[in-house]
Amino acid sequence: MRKGLVAANWKMNGLSQSNDALLDAIISGLKVVELPEGAQAETLICPPAIYLQQVREKLEGSWIQLGGQNVHPAKSGAFTGEISAGMLSDTGCTHVIIGHSERRELFGETDRFIAEKFSAAQSCNLIPVLCVGETQAQREAGSTAETVLGQLYAVLGHAGIDAFKQAIIAYEPVWAIGTGLTASPDQAQEVHSLIRKTISEQDESVGEQIRIIYGGSVKAANAATLFAQPDIDGALVGGASLVAEEFVSICASFAG
Ligand code: 13P
Repeated sequence: MRKGLVAANWKMNGLSQSNDALLDAIISGLKVVELPEGAQAETLICPPAIYLQQVREKLEGSWIQLGGQNVHPAKSGAFTGEISAGMLSDTGCTHVIIGHSERRELFGETDRFIAEKFSAAQSCNLIPVLCVGETQAQREAGSTAETVLGQLYAVLGHAGIDAFKQAIIAYEPVWAIGTGLTASPDQAQEVHSLIRKTISEQDESVGEQIRIIYGGSVKAANAATLFAQPDIDGALVGGASLVAEEFVSICASFAG
């Protein structure tokens, strides 16, 4: 059975004082969440890089893991403003988000660049959370599968199937991010199952064990129905991860 993962992507939100309050509420909220026997879900928080240290200190002693929101593929050098995989790992990160649609769209990140980041992360033992997803126009044009699989193949071609033994995929339809529009459980399941099938075609056991999480307006009210789908292994949560009760309740949905 695949372990669930509920990951928080804080994006560019929070200040040290509000971070402390949010984390206190999440930590105490999660302590009271009782998961039924056998149910397993990991929790991951990805704050802005400048607050990684603060969040790491706060999370000490909890089972919550720490992740970066971005990474540069180079090991070190003249890349003003960038952060390397080694630095993330050195700061206590276990994961890093790669290829988020905001990075693709707003910062012009290409499939090739994202693939390089994926390998750089793994070379420092970070688990990449690879985001893929189609825009509204691509969905309407009937090219959802082509878009998502194109993004997946770009990394598969570069890193190889074995690299996906230590990776997570996040399906995030761009039209559902921050819009309040969530993909229906069926719409999400259809793409998740396509991604799993595609990976299974290259290696059945990797396809079976890889976690594919969903992102796009996940909240307490819709988490349980999404998690009930056979190929949805968790969530990458933006806005609702900034509200402790919402986030705790999404984590608790694994118990449902
Ligand atoms: P929202 O949950 O705010 O829609 O954001 C999803 C997302 O982009 C997570 O990476």
